[in-house]
Amino acid sequence: MSHDDRRPRRHPMRSVVICAAGFVALGAGAGIYAQASGDFNPKITIIEIMDSMVMPNAQIVWDAVSYDVTDKGEKITGPKTDEDWQKVRWAAVTLAEAANNLAVPGRTVNKPGVKPGEGELAPEAIQKLIAANRGAWVAHAKVLYESVSEAIRAVDAKDLDKVSEAGGNIDSACEGCHLQFWYPDQNKPDQNKKK
Ligand code: HEC
Repeated sequence: MSHDDRRPRRHPMRSVVICAAGFVALGAGAGIYAQASGDFNPKITIIEIMDSMVMPNAQIVWDAVSYDVTDKGEKITGPKTDEDWQKVRWAAVTLAEAANNLAVPGRTVNKPGVKPGEGELAPEAIQKLIAANRGAWVAHAKVLYESVSEAIRAVDAKDLDKVSEAGGNIDSACEGCHLQFWYPDQNKPDQNKKK
């Protein structure tokens, strides 16, 4: 399966400029770690959203369908009861809303001073990268949202192959954002099995 078509698209320049201007205006008064005022409370960090909402729910979607090679050929296993399907759907719905949450302005990446792993940017560097490329950040969140919407439609159709395919696209969406904002130095697609 090709994931190329799921690569984050460029935002029209105009929306990038408007978003960036909004971010700068917000940051000017209160600094880069400030909370945005307005309709959202962005106190929870991006890394907390990754660990509490994004990762566990993506895992449920990825684990929903498995392919095993047996003596009789390939065997595909998926949710069986309506309740099983419901659990996968709820995970996908939560993941979709987690994607929306990533686009909330003014969110801090992580506590400042946290030591990055090898090949990863420090939280302060990621924060600056997001501030300078907010249009791309939001575009990655939207790509994730779209791939998860595809998973929700596949769950509603109880189509195992499509759930699996959407899972692959979700994976690419994670990877696309991580490659630009978390470990941009590892930009050879095949060396990036980290998530
Ligand atoms: C819009 C951008 C974006 C998207 C989309 C995204 N991530 Fe992340 N993710 C980040 C950033 C930035 C970090 C690094 C935060 C840091 O190191 O401070 C991160 C970190 C993580 C971490 C590390 C958490 C930790 O405690 O070390 C995990 C796990 C993770 N993401 C999983 C995922 C999965 C799974 C997906 C897709 C379902 C995903 N992410 C989609 C931006 C994104």
